[in-house]
Amino acid sequence: MYQKIAEKYGTPTYVYDFRKIKEQYNKLKSVVPEALIAYAVKANSNLSILRFLRSLGAGFDIVSGGELYRVRKAGGGEIIFSGVGKTEDELRDAAGVLSLNVESLDELALISEMKLSIPISLRINPDISVDTHPYISTGLRSSKFGIPLELVDQALSIIKSGNLSLVGLSCHIGSHISDVSVLKSAYSCLREKFEEIRACGFDLKILDFGGGLSVDLDLQKFGSMIKEVTSGLDAKIVFEPGKFLVAESGVLLTKVLYRKDNGTHKFAVVDAGMNDLIRPSLYDAYHDIQAISGSPNMEEITIVGPVCETGCFLGKARLLPVLKRGDLLFIRDSGAYGFSMSSNYNSRPRACEVAIELDGSIRCIRTRESYESLVASEP
Ligand SMILES: Cc1ncc(COP(=O)(O)O)c(C=O)c1O
Repeated sequence: MYQKIAEKYGTPTYVYDFRKIKEQYNKLKSVVPEALIAYAVKANSNLSILRFLRSLGAGFDIVSGGELYRVRKAGGGEIIFSGVGKTEDELRDAAGVLSLNVESLDELALISEMKLSIPISLRINPDISVDTHPYISTGLRSSKFGIPLELVDQALSIIKSGNLSLVGLSCHIGSHISDVSVLKSAYSCLREKFEEIRACGFDLKILDFGGGLSVDLDLQKFGSMIKEVTSGLDAKIVFEPGKFLVAESGVLLTKVLYRKDNGTHKFAVVDAGMNDLIRPSLYDAYHDIQAISGSPNMEEITIVGPVCETGCFLGKARLLPVLKRGDLLFIRDSGAYGFSMSSNYNSRPRACEVAIELDGSIRCIRTRESYESLVASEP
């Protein structure tokens, strides 16, 4: 199938299997049936994916006016507006969201000055360390995210004096977390604070545990932990998963342009680069790479892209069938933070995106960019 898609749409091309997205959504829903699953749009914001997740019953977690625009274009839904640096325009446009998750006292002050009557939640920074890449660890005091616990009282004063509508608490401690006990510490801390604030007379309704769930998470254990942490609590529970829902649904198809053997190192230069999939360069992320090659022999080879940066690689020292020009590779688990983090660096048009629908049929959901589109906004 990948060969056919590559022939029809060219490479590099992202392919997403909607059957996998549905499977992941249902798996998560089955262990937290009452919760709102607010898909983190930043993971993959293609309109067809948003519409599909909406059809399954998902809400959305957004972090910008652009994502809000996309969600509305996809039909809207229950929206959580997160983000550490919302502009005045974004705050104004947020009317109608389920909750605006506020990340600083300054943001609260601005909402108060602007006299916005919008439901808000406080994003708490519980100062919890997560065993993940530092760039995707967000729950530590040293990170820019959330409001530290000891500033919550000040936040409540601003809320009271500004007559703001506080509806909930949220947290998000990082990405790719499979350790249920770490999640439990953060969620328990949030619940404790939730009850404390309620006891002060605030009518809290939403307890938003954020995203960050790894695809390797033990869901049964996770479900039991959630039951325990939320037992006896009358609140709307929200999760904001991105990667968990879409990462495994996607592959990035790419073609070998050249081989290079410099005596000590072998490289395959492929037509997808760090501008298409930046995760290996940015986070040292490991993506399994498979090849469609006629060779029965294996070799260790580094897969690099064409961008003029030493950091432009997709996989180092991988054992793969001997590659030649024109062979097709597919880079697994590229459905999240793949296309959505892609850029036009080196003036490279962004890749095409293709969906495998529930019935197995293929549909192009974003055409490859053209050279004209690269310069369309430049006079
Ligand atoms: C506030 C918030 N919610 C949810 C997510 C989604 O994280 P993940 O894709 O790891 O589930 C992120 C990721 O950065 C985030 O910052």
